Amino acid sequence: MIRKYSFILFVAAISLISCISSKKVSAQTTSLKETFKNDFLIGVAINVQQIEEKDAAADVLIKQQFNAVTPENIMKAEVIEPKWNTFNFDLADKLVAFAQKNNIKVNGHTLIWHSQLPAFMRHMQSADSVKQYFENHITTVASRYDGKVYSWDVVNEALNEDGTLRKSIFLDKLGDDYVVEAFRLAQKAAPHTKLYYNDYNIEQPKKRAGAIALIKKIQAAGVRIDGVGIQGHWRAYNLPLNDIEESIKEFSALGIEVAFTELDLSVLPSPFEKVTADVSTTAKSDSTMNPYKNGLPDSVAQMQAKAYADLFKLLLKYKKNVSRVTFWGVNDAQSWLNNFPIRGRTDYPLFFDRNFKPKPAFYSVIATKEK
Ligand code: G3I
Repeated sequence: MIRKYSFILFVAAISLISCISSKKVSAQTTSLKETFKNDFLIGVAINVQQIEEKDAAADVLIKQQFNAVTPENIMKAEVIEPKWNTFNFDLADKLVAFAQKNNIKVNGHTLIWHSQLPAFMRHMQSADSVKQYFENHITTVASRYDGKVYSWDVVNEALNEDGTLRKSIFLDKLGDDYVVEAFRLAQKAAPHTKLYYNDYNIEQPKKRAGAIALIKKIQAAGVRIDGVGIQGHWRAYNLPLNDIEESIKEFSALGIEVAFTELDLSVLPSPFEKVTADVSTTAKSDSTMNPYKNGLPDSVAQMQAKAYADLFKLLLKYKKNVSRVTFWGVNDAQSWLNNFPIRGRTDYPLFFDRNFKPKPAFYSVIATKEK
């Protein structure tokens, strides 16, 4: 009889301890920005609802966890200049006001990108018209937010995987120097804003070499470039840590900051051999491509937690060179990866789950700082 009671007492004690610890964990206010405040900025991509503070659960996390924001879409040209020389700054102004109110730095995304261009300029034939658009867009937008936006992705995704310049209306109509000219215009319009080149896969040797050549060309022209943004759309199950480390070293050797600007670690299989974040690529779905639609197995969550921890240990090793780490979305439900490269999948690439609760990856990354 005594044995039975002692077992019941034992079980009761265990459940009491786990209840207290779970309360502590859920009520904890451990924050990423506080944990890494002496290392690098911790940012997040935010959408319209979050800019307008209409997403209550996300709003709590944004203010508690992050000290930098990037607008996921509302500063892209199709939104901010929908018609020739007609600018719609409402949402960008709200973003800047939200950030100022909450002591959060803004990374503007993006002045020049071949995608999400306004309809009026996508098929523009006249090189002179493209030049006028190019100069007017950069000057108008960058000057309006000078000193209010901490940094700009001046040019986004100008390179092919082999490091050559990607074919675009800008390359076609303005020639090889359009990237240098974009930075020259941004430098003049926004003297108080850091100027970044942003791209995906530039941790890969060939594309990295193309980015380095581009950065050296900007510097050789006597034009300011302050940093490079490695987007970081990777897969948790094959993180290119060696390439990432080599990239931090090689980009830093140019005397510029290195930021990780769109970080997410997908746990889903990819239909493509090579990683891509090129929004124009899509693929057909089949059930093997969406294995976790009913929930994330703990083993996969733990694998992702280790991958994120390995990455952050590397970033901490180079914290003098790393200026910012921005996650591409507040929680798993918001991620673009739920619809890319296959529409309608259930991915789990971020730190906060669909109930806005921290996942194992959040705790494993916080633990990289605990002695
Ligand atoms: O706002 C319109 C809405 O009015 C309309 O009803 C709806 C119909 O589909 O489209 C909405 O626009 C969508 C926009 O996101 C806002 O939700 C676009 O179709 C959609 O293409 C766009 O996707 C964005 C994508 O860039 C293309 O711009 C993703 O949210 C965004 O996460 C993704 O982010 C890019 C970075 O800017 C650059 N690096 C790669 C990264 C991932 O592709």
